[in-house]
Amino acid sequence: MNNNLIVIAGAGGFIGGHLVRYFEDRGYVNIRAIDIKPLDEWYQVSEVAENVVADLSEITACHAACRGATEVYNLAADMGGMGFIENNKALCMLSVLINTHLLMAAKDAGVSRYFYASSACVYNASKQVSEDVTALKEEDAYPAMPEDGYGWEKLFSERMCRHFREDFGLITRVARFHNVYGPEGTWEGGREKAPAAICRKVITAKHTGEHQIEVWGDGKQTRSFMYIDDCVQGIDRIMHSEILEPINLGSSELTSINGLVDMVGEIAGIDIERNHLLDAPKGVNGRNSDNSLIQDYLGWEPSIRLRDGMKRTFDWIESEYLEKYQPVTTA
Ligand code: NAD
Ligand code: GDD
Repeated sequence: MNNNLIVIAGAGGFIGGHLVRYFEDRGYVNIRAIDIKPLDEWYQVSEVAENVVADLSEITACHAACRGATEVYNLAADMGGMGFIENNKALCMLSVLINTHLLMAAKDAGVSRYFYASSACVYNASKQVSEDVTALKEEDAYPAMPEDGYGWEKLFSERMCRHFREDFGLITRVARFHNVYGPEGTWEGGREKAPAAICRKVITAKHTGEHQIEVWGDGKQTRSFMYIDDCVQGIDRIMHSEILEPINLGSSELTSINGLVDMVGEIAGIDIERNHLLDAPKGVNGRNSDNSLIQDYLGWEPSIRLRDGMKRTFDWIESEYLEKYQPVTTA
């Protein structure tokens, strides 16, 4: 049992919800889980945690959130997949208020450690022009040319963490997540990322018999996708390490989007026809995580195979889909 109070910001979201459960499973009994969304919209609601609905872009809410805390994990942000971040740059950048106010409050409260969830979207776009990628190393973030809007906010917030550490002595840790997927996350509504979106489209095809799905771009884009269990384990390991600089937290198993569609079609057991939407939000052409540094520091890296994680994700989205769109009626 661990009595230290840990604060998880963004606990109603995908990664935050899993992180609460991860710590609960490890005997933490003092968890403050916070999100701006009403409780009935949280993906997971812990029975152990103190669940708080608050807007963490407000400094007063951040002070209340950090009171008595030993560790703060900031997973709160206004974000989504390419469909959201390409069309909502101002909203993405406003998340700077959350991290800035949380850092200020954490410092004032004497918090021991602070974690910030950054993104592979901080990397220089010129390193991501080809589908045939060279995996991104941490040094590739500079000179800065990140994803417009969302990536700039992440890069700025990374530096805020560094300067709070250097100037005020607050121990900060920063991980650059590469596309995270799994159950209990966004799978429809516009903020979903490719793994969940493609599962939803294939599941819809399976249950409606209409086997043509829309795929954004020509499908040759490449990405690596990290399963959520690797993500939460990596957060714990990085938070409690001596790694001072932002570090990649991602899978190095590369796939094309066409490869991902093939995989999901195979999981569903159906043939898929694709309608490629060439004007849809596409992002960079290729991106992968170079895991040399995390291996050097921790002797560990995310290792859950894409096929295994996608099967679990597909099964969860299918059950959500059936509950929502094809509820079983009893006579
Ligand atoms: P998510 O959208 O599921 O969760 C974020 C949560 O933050 C949401 O529940 C949202 O309601 C909450 N939030 C937004 N504004 C808030 C505010 N003002 N006050 C309190 N809560 C607020 O996203 P996620 O996938 O769980 O991502 C968590 C973090 O990881 C984010 O910082 C995100 O940018 C980062 N990240 C995620 C991925 C990924 O692939 N999921 C990749 C890179 C980085
Ligand atoms: N979202 C989505 N939906 N993407 C699709 C779809 C679809 O139906 N069909 C094809 N794609 C393609 C996109 O065009 C893009 O080229 C690729 O799949 C990946 O899209 P996303 O999963 O939405 O985002 P991303 O990998 O470009 O960026 C994500 O990962 C970053 C970290 O690596 C985003 O979630 C960022 O917010 C995150 O920081």
